[in-house]
Amino acid sequence: MILIKKSSDLLSHISELKKANRIIGFVPTMGALHDGHLSLIESAKQKCDIVVCSIFVNPTQFNQASDLASYPRTLENDIRLLLSKSCDILFHPEIDEVYGNLLEKESSEDYGSFIHVLEGASRPGHFDGVVTVLRKLFLLVQPNQVYFGQKDYQQCLVVKTLIQRSFQDIVFNLCPIAREKDGLAMSSRNVRLNQSEREVAPKIFESLQLVAQNWTITNWELGLNQAQVNLQKPPFQFEYLCACDPMSLDSLTHFQSNAIILVAVQLGSTRLIDNILVGS
Ligand code: PAF
Repeated sequence: MILIKKSSDLLSHISELKKANRIIGFVPTMGALHDGHLSLIESAKQKCDIVVCSIFVNPTQFNQASDLASYPRTLENDIRLLLSKSCDILFHPEIDEVYGNLLEKESSEDYGSFIHVLEGASRPGHFDGVVTVLRKLFLLVQPNQVYFGQKDYQQCLVVKTLIQRSFQDIVFNLCPIAREKDGLAMSSRNVRLNQSEREVAPKIFESLQLVAQNWTITNWELGLNQAQVNLQKPPFQFEYLCACDPMSLDSLTHFQSNAIILVAVQLGSTRLIDNILVGS
């Protein structure tokens, strides 16, 4: 694996690969890698000649300085994991390599109504930061295929829109959520949970499953209400659990067979999200 820290070095390396008609797969990450990220690398390895992973904790997508400061950084272990998956290139730039001297953000305001709900409402400016950094990274890496995890479902809709608008040649790949044995969705933030928080955390996925099991025209609201009640009790601080249209993220007012159930809770100082697609 080649470790590249300079944007100019990455550009010249990619230009050689392009000349040789290599298919480039890209897995953008913020590091603190876990099996979820590694499954994205594995998927990319299957379809692409060269797999590029970026590790860059993007300052513009954090809306709380404390969250940015405490975001886990585990580079040595990340490198070991990437080597074990035969990743070809790791791009690990400093902030000024990506942003220059100005931490400017582009706006995602007009991406559609889905940008303003759920994570968009809870984390103002977050998706602006995501589209800003991904545009920069896509221009540097020039991937043929990109790989994103379903855990950040709303982010996936945002990335698809960015691709439709500006990078039509890139193929978007949605990869399934990787879970711990007890169902907790893998996340770089899970390491922040203390023992008692970690013990109750599987209730998040259990609640999603409860909704999925009751996803019928007669039971859906009952299942949804019960799941909400489960996560409205301490130690959870409930943010949202709702059933939405998978494309528009409009909250459902009537039953529809295909839906996505999305949840966000705070557990101690850690914010966790998860989701499940229901229906045929
Ligand atoms: O999902 C993430 O880890 C980040 O939002 C991403 C896509 C790497 C952009 O910084």
